[in-house]
Amino acid sequence: MVRIVETSVRDGQQSLFATRMTTQEVVDLCRLYDQAGFHAIEMWGGATFDAAMRFLDEDPWERLREVRKVCKKTKLQMLFRGQNILGYRHYSDDVVDMFCKKSIENGIDIIRIFDALNDLRNLKQAVESTKKYGGECQIALCYTTSPVHTIDYFVDLGKQIEQLGCDSLCIKDMAGVLLPEDARKLVTALKKQVHIPIELHSHSTAGVATMTYLAAIEAGVDIIDTSLSPCSDGTAQPSTQALINSLAGTKYDPHMDLHVVQRAEPMMSKIIDKYVNNGLMSWKSMQVNPKILFYQVPGGMLSNMIKQLRDQDAMDRYDEVMLEIPKVRRDLGYPPLVTPMSQMVGTQAVMNVLMGERYKITIKEVRDYLHGKYGRAPAEVDQDVRKKIIGDDETITCRPADLLKPEFENLKKKYSDIARCDEDVLSLALFENVAVNFLTKKYGLNGTKEIDEFEMFV
Ligand code: CO
Repeated sequence: MVRIVETSVRDGQQSLFATRMTTQEVVDLCRLYDQAGFHAIEMWGGATFDAAMRFLDEDPWERLREVRKVCKKTKLQMLFRGQNILGYRHYSDDVVDMFCKKSIENGIDIIRIFDALNDLRNLKQAVESTKKYGGECQIALCYTTSPVHTIDYFVDLGKQIEQLGCDSLCIKDMAGVLLPEDARKLVTALKKQVHIPIELHSHSTAGVATMTYLAAIEAGVDIIDTSLSPCSDGTAQPSTQALINSLAGTKYDPHMDLHVVQRAEPMMSKIIDKYVNNGLMSWKSMQVNPKILFYQVPGGMLSNMIKQLRDQDAMDRYDEVMLEIPKVRRDLGYPPLVTPMSQMVGTQAVMNVLMGERYKITIKEVRDYLHGKYGRAPAEVDQDVRKKIIGDDETITCRPADLLKPEFENLKKKYSDIARCDEDVLSLALFENVAVNFLTKKYGLNGTKEIDEFEMFV
């Protein structure tokens, strides 16, 4: 039997319409999902936290509590970016610990934790804290292709993940580039050497994910991530209904209540219509995009780069930039293209092309990366490039968060006027300016802060 994790209210909506689903919409859907027999509902974390406060004036913690109230049977899952939590920099261990504690207290059952570089040291604190507070802990390994990302590499990582005491492992194919035969080989190899349940998470961007799921299922994968149609496919996950129908009556039958799922369908249709009509959902995100298999560039990164090129009136350099991306990636030791590495590699590739000289100008994040502040690169960094960018500077080799001082109590003091609970302090710790504005309004206090319109890592 294969189990299914429903992702529409987190990754589905994040991939298709910029994470703007309201708490009411999420709660209404989850009330039904709870009756369907899903293994879990992924409903929190990722970009949902920032987007709720920034765009919807909603408290993400309240959303979690409201969903918990209507989900009595089904586990609730969140996506957690290791030492980055849900933000874009490394946070101190005490903030990571408190975030795990409060997530579990407010209703999360499973915390899916990943690191952009698959540097397990960046996951250590989140794993320990999740276990300490009674949560179920899953580590997701970021899938990518490169000369170093072989099956042996992933199996070795999988064994280490099991040794960390995690409850399950996820293959996180954030760009949707995992092909069916590669999935079959990878899952087969992992199942031989790793004894915890294995889950597969992919995106339909290239049009291959449903086939990849089937191949992985036949190779023994335990859990798959799907999104309820019509909030599925395109840049989101394969359709929940398609998988339930395809597996029904086979030995993989997830034994779910399709009638309940069908009752959620019209509700989702109405929600999708709303975001199509207000322009947030573009038909482009629904197109099959086979180019991604060649360039290995995730959708979010592509739209970011197109915006940067348009801003510079340089769309005619698009092809050059696309060819520059794999070179930058090689120079930097083949980081997987997932936040924040995807934005970093993309922005640097744009600069290399537009400046007419490679690494003439570099962004701060690339310099930090070369100094070791994001963790260990998967492969060796090109030494000439390194020298050109940071000269003979030393690189830190310890776990980056070991250099950070505790932050939580200082923030609590700093914001004693607007934070009413530890959850508020955590919102401030992660998205300071956004949370100051949000909480000021929420509690009817005076004064707001300017928020930078553009952040590199949105
Ligand atoms: Co995803």
